Amino acid sequence: MHRFLPSFAILVLIPALAFAAKSIHRDDQAPGTPEQVAAGEKAYAVCAGCHGADGSGVQGLAPRLNSQNWLAAVPNSFLAETIRNGRPGSNMVPWDSGLGDDAIDNIVSFVRSWQITKGLKLDESPLKGDLARGEELFRDVCADCHGIRGAGYAAGVDGIGIGRRAFLALASDGLLREMMRRGKDETPMESFTKGSPVVIDDLTEKDVDSVIMHLRSKAW
Ligand code: HEC
Ligand code: HEC
Repeated sequence: MHRFLPSFAILVLIPALAFAAKSIHRDDQAPGTPEQVAAGEKAYAVCAGCHGADGSGVQGLAPRLNSQNWLAAVPNSFLAETIRNGRPGSNMVPWDSGLGDDAIDNIVSFVRSWQITKGLKLDESPLKGDLARGEELFRDVCADCHGIRGAGYAAGVDGIGIGRRAFLALASDGLLREMMRRGKDETPMESFTKGSPVVIDDLTEKDVDSVIMHLRSKAW
């Protein structure tokens, strides 16, 4: 027994500890194997023209995919479903028939490999806002960059199409709150919540919820 225990402990505990120490991903952000990442990098060639080889995006053309708090917020299903079904009415077309499930999973692994910060625990508590106020705020604060209907680039503005049903069906309240509270790292999407040093249009937590309620009520 004395001899057995230490070796048993080493066999089981060391890999478990190494894994726990290394993993920055949430359960729904599985990073994929090195083989999947390598295959995904090749398959991603069809995406690079719009999103950039390193996922930096192109202002007004295609969003940044290597933004750290965004990657730390979205689950793999958000990435896979967006690639599979696209965002109807935008230049992001559906890739399901063109690529197939394996290539899509591999691309998700490749995009996930850009994440270097820890997966975020999002605030998914029930919304406590005011719909009418949300409509006003969206018009005054968001519409210039995202379009009055949230059509984004397709409306000739700088931000992405956050009014689309295809986006809102995948974007949880927690993701939308994170983007408004902190901004989307390394993009012109700044923090909009109170105390932000960069933005004049300070929103309270209730305002943020109101804007989300407005977006959801008008999803198209
Ligand atoms: C012709 C340009 C183009 C190509 C090619 C393209 N995309 Fe996109 N992609 C876009 C645009 C534009 C959007 C944003 C649409 C909107 O405004 O709603 C987008 C959105 C996305 C999003 C959602 C990002 C977010 O911030 O919500 C992901 C993920 C994505 N694309 C991944 C890919 C992947 C992976 C590929 C390759 C299989 C790809 N795209 C190919 C233009 C493109
Ligand atoms: C100064 C212009 C500007 C304003 C004002 C603005 N945004 Fe943005 N927003 C952007 C840009 C640009 C991006 C992302 C660009 C990229 O990924 O390359 C973005 C990204 C986002 C995203 C992330 C979507 C995703 O999946 O990538 C959300 C959500 C969002 N904005 C919501 C809002 C809301 C709600 C408001 C109003 C409170 C707002 N934005 C105001 C420019 C703006």
